[in-house]
Order: sequence, then C-alpha cells, then structure tokens
Amino acid sequence: MAKPISLEKILFSQGFGTRRYCSDLVYADLIKVNGVLALDPEERIPTEGLVLNVEGKDWEYHEKAYIAFNKPANYECSHKTTHHPSVYSLLPAPFVERGLQCVGRLDYDTTGLLLISDDGQFIHKMTTPKKNIGKVYEITTPDPITQSQIDHLLKGVMLEDDPKPCFAAACKLLSENCLAMTIVEGRYHQVKRMMAAVGNHVAKLHRVEIGAYVMPLDLAEGEWRWLYPDDLKALSKRIEV
Ligand code: URA
Repeated sequence: MAKPISLEKILFSQGFGTRRYCSDLVYADLIKVNGVLALDPEERIPTEGLVLNVEGKDWEYHEKAYIAFNKPANYECSHKTTHHPSVYSLLPAPFVERGLQCVGRLDYDTTGLLLISDDGQFIHKMTTPKKNIGKVYEITTPDPITQSQIDHLLKGVMLEDDPKPCFAAACKLLSENCLAMTIVEGRYHQVKRMMAAVGNHVAKLHRVEIGAYVMPLDLAEGEWRWLYPDDLKALSKRIEV
C-alpha cells in the first residue's frame, strides 16, 4: 500500500495550485476527503481509492493521470496554438496545471480518440513505433477507395522527404468511401500523406482505436474520462507480426 501523504501535497500533485494555495483551500473549508470536511493541510492521508472534493466538485486522486478524450474538429493539440483553440481549453484546469500532455498529436481537423497523460514513460511507449501499437483511423474520402489503393497502402508507400516507406498494418473497407486503416507510426500528417500517395484524398479523419482500446461509444465529443489499469492493458496490446 502507498504511504500516506500530506493533504497539501496531494492537492498540489493533482494540480490545484501552489502548496500555499492548496493549504489555504483547506483553511477556507473548501476541501473534503472521502466526504468529510478537512481541517488540517498537514494531515497525512492514504491515497488508495481517495476521492477529494474541491470547491464542491468531486475529484478522484490519481498519482499519474491517464485520460481518454474525444477530440472535436477545429482544436489544436498544443498549448500555444496558432489558428484554433487548444484541446487543453476543454479539459479541467488542474490537468493543465499538473502538466498533462497529448500522447502524440492529431491535426486540428482530425477527430476522435486522443490520449492525454503526465506519465513520460507511458507517452513514450504509446508513441514509439518499436512497440508496434496500432492506431486505427476511419478515413472518409471523396473518391471511392479501390483495391489497388489498399494493396499499395499495405505494401508501403514512399512519402516525400521521407527515406523509409510507410505501411498500413491493416486495412478494412467499411464502405466505398470509408476505410479503417491501422498504422503503428505517427509521422507528420501520416494518414493524409499516405492517402495522397496512393491517389486519393482525406475528407474526414477520425481515430477510433489504439492498441485494443476502442473509443467508448458513450464518450461524447469534447468529453474525457479517466483510464484504469484494464484500459491501460488494452492500450498496450501490440500487433502480432
Ligand atoms: N495522420 C494524419 O494525417 N493526421 C492526423 O491527425 C493523424 C494521423
């Protein structure tokens, strides 16, 4: 079992402000611990299953944060955006305060499953092609997708300024104009460039799956949820080669 930690440190670790500010939240009677009003910021608290209530809102304690987010179109995956608002503006302020980062980026016009975390090892594992973790994109095209285009994607395509070919790990035609394609890398505009290289074009791009984790049907656009150990296990599932 993890060692109990002082309440002030716990609040700070979750992104509720400086330690001084967190301490003041307790003195202002704005913090509950597992439903009970907290009085002492120095009190040591066991973190297992801990639910805080901060200024009237329940907040699950997570030593490291792992979040699934359903990204809407017209948001950028960066803190300093250029033309569109940031995805971070749709997340609770403590996430930004504690330094959560997108696990790989989606283009501003791409929608769907985006992971967000403050665990550097996890971010690396999920983004390195070495781990062979598939990302499934649903690609809608203006022109019908042909079998020869699919064969080409599976055989590998050369992208401009890129010495190595890019492969689709799997392709499944969902309709004449919609393809589910799995890739294990995350090169810049990879899917759009791959589709252009085989003579088609991406009208809409939506990520539905990472590893064996499928975006939950009840996670609405712009909403997020915590990921738990079973979800992380599903996310880590590699493509067998
Ligand atoms: N490939 C793209 O072209 N864009 C994305 O957002 C993700 C993968």
